[in-house]
Amino acid sequence: MRHPRDFFSPLAIGAPSPVREIPFKPSRMIHFFDPSNPRMAAKIPEIVKQVDILLGNLEDAIEAGNKVAAREGLVKIARDTDFGETPLWTRVNSLDSPWFLDDLLRLVGEIGDKLEVIMVPKVTGPWDIHYVDQLLAQLEAKHGLSRPLLVHAILETAEGVKNVEEIAAASPRMQGISLGPADLAASRRMKTTRVGGGHPDYVVRDDMDEANPKTERPSHLQDLWHYTTAKMVDACGAAGILPFYGPFGHIADDQACEDQFRNAFLMGCVGAWSLHPKQIAIAKRVFSPPVKDVKFALRVLEEMGDGTGTVMIDGRMQDDATVKQCRVIVDLARMLAVKDSDLAAAYGL
Ligand code: GLV
Ligand code: MG
Repeated sequence: MRHPRDFFSPLAIGAPSPVREIPFKPSRMIHFFDPSNPRMAAKIPEIVKQVDILLGNLEDAIEAGNKVAAREGLVKIARDTDFGETPLWTRVNSLDSPWFLDDLLRLVGEIGDKLEVIMVPKVTGPWDIHYVDQLLAQLEAKHGLSRPLLVHAILETAEGVKNVEEIAAASPRMQGISLGPADLAASRRMKTTRVGGGHPDYVVRDDMDEANPKTERPSHLQDLWHYTTAKMVDACGAAGILPFYGPFGHIADDQACEDQFRNAFLMGCVGAWSLHPKQIAIAKRVFSPPVKDVKFALRVLEEMGDGTGTVMIDGRMQDDATVKQCRVIVDLARMLAVKDSDLAAAYGL
């Protein structure tokens, strides 16, 4: 482990100083697009106005033959587009791929001042982050960047899950972590063929009726992702970085997508990936706190005064700890209300 005194020192002479706090901006969805696809590229100026974060994807889902076109497409889009306040991220290829090094060399050199976060897939431990950290510092120094690039890891290997706390704390560049259920399922030898969501066979069943053992018994779906999401949320919370749920691949199933996103929201995630434009609206709905919860939280804060002691509201005890929960909701609502005037009106903020 680096000495705490050195943790915030630049890793290369001339590189910008690392940030002390990870900025928390609207992050309800990271919208993925394929920069090698001219039809998608043409839609970027419109999409950029609808999303919280836009991400040019270079990794999985981009055919091997299109890797360079995707990289060059992203360079062009980054140069030509006015992103306003919307952060531009990229997902580069994995560290063991033939493309990672050129992805980073080209992107930092050409559009390092436009990119905010580099998403690194298939992270296995803090050593992966240390390598990216040092390389980014060298490239930032070489290209005279004044703002450090941040790093977002995808949690999608069994080894990564085992090491998630060390990954979260590996560098002051660490902005957040996303759960990658598809690669993680493969890495763990799960017997699924899906991208996120539940599985009809992952159930617990009601007790057998001993007197009538043949009676049909209901079964109850269990959440395949609960353990990993919880582990990731705690690792991120402890390190002061942001947890996200990743992709939901059954694009036709809006309801299951919404359920998956909402479970993540309730457990502490700040957003999820949108792989299709229609998932943007789902993420917006789910990761903006519900109006009734915001109004109730405002009422608790008002009635709790200095935030100590207890009051009863509608039969529910409120105390210092519920005040803290209500602040999480109200702070999020206030931040989103600045961006979204419809939400501001609905919340009364
Ligand atoms: C995302 O990259 C995943 O593998 O789920
Ligand atoms: Mg993956």
